Amino acid sequence: MAADASGRGVRPADGTRPVAGDPVRIEDAADPRVDDFVALTDVALRRRREPADGLFIAEGERVIVRALRAGYRPRSVLVSPARLAAVPADLPPDVPVYVAGPDVLAAITGFEVHRGALASMCRRPPRTPAEVLATARRILVCEDIVSHTNLGAIFRSAAGLGMDAVLLSPRCADPLYRRSVRVSMGEVFAVPYARLDPWPAALADLRAAGFDLLALTPAADADDLAAYAARRSGTPSPAGAGDTPEDGPARVALLLGTEGPGLSTSAQATASARVRIPMAHGVDSLNVAATAAIACYLLGRR
Ligand SMILES: C[S@@+](CC[C@H](N)C(=O)[O-])C[C@H]1O[C@@H](n2cnc3c(N)ncnc32)[C@H](O)[C@@H]1O
Repeated sequence: MAADASGRGVRPADGTRPVAGDPVRIEDAADPRVDDFVALTDVALRRRREPADGLFIAEGERVIVRALRAGYRPRSVLVSPARLAAVPADLPPDVPVYVAGPDVLAAITGFEVHRGALASMCRRPPRTPAEVLATARRILVCEDIVSHTNLGAIFRSAAGLGMDAVLLSPRCADPLYRRSVRVSMGEVFAVPYARLDPWPAALADLRAAGFDLLALTPAADADDLAAYAARRSGTPSPAGAGDTPEDGPARVALLLGTEGPGLSTSAQATASARVRIPMAHGVDSLNVAATAAIACYLLGRR
């Protein structure tokens, strides 16, 4: 590696890309400089530690770049020597870049790091529901989605299928947990979200703000979601709702239930309608992230 023209950065051995800052070699997994990356597979530990320490982990060049572009401040980066080129070129020069061989890397993180770069990033103060709702017209509301994989997939669908925001019950998983970030492909940085508390009482605020609150349930007595969407797209905007003709009618909130038992009775009771995706072959329900994708496709902005 050699210093670049500014004398500050270095280039990886293949000379293809500049890397911000001088990488620091880590030889000992117990080195306190890489403490942010310790035991990344210990879910219980990381769930406690990351919010308390105000950090989260972004994994892979593309996701790190998305976090940087969304304005998250990096604390440090950790890579294997072979993946030094995966360090984003626009990393601020004062952010330390640590390099560790595969064995040391695995001893630090607890797994074989194949995706190249890991970045520890600073969390931001959480948004309030009022901030999130100020401009949102199509939102997802998640009740106790505990799987980080499902939550990441829900954010990816929300972004890709035209939803404006996501609201989470207090018991929902952390969107900034490493797996959620990765499964969402960084869309957790793009879609505004907030926790809705107290739950489910605060759902009444959505109704008061003019949202049609749709409870998604596979129950046979619920209305067909596609029929609802078709009626809605033919409905003129209510006066004063601030919609444009291209945007269709005003505010809709899609309420998704937890894996396993589904939406609580109390959450369903706050809804303006209960809607279902009809099922075939005696299958009782869909995965919640698959449900979100279908519902966003029918009701999102395109
Ligand atoms: C795994 S399902 C829960 C299944 C649970 N036995 C129930 O009756 O709701 C998780 C969530 O996905 C959504 N969901 C799953 N299948 C659905 C369907 N066919 N129609 C509408 N929503 C569905 C609901 O919001 C549900 O709470």
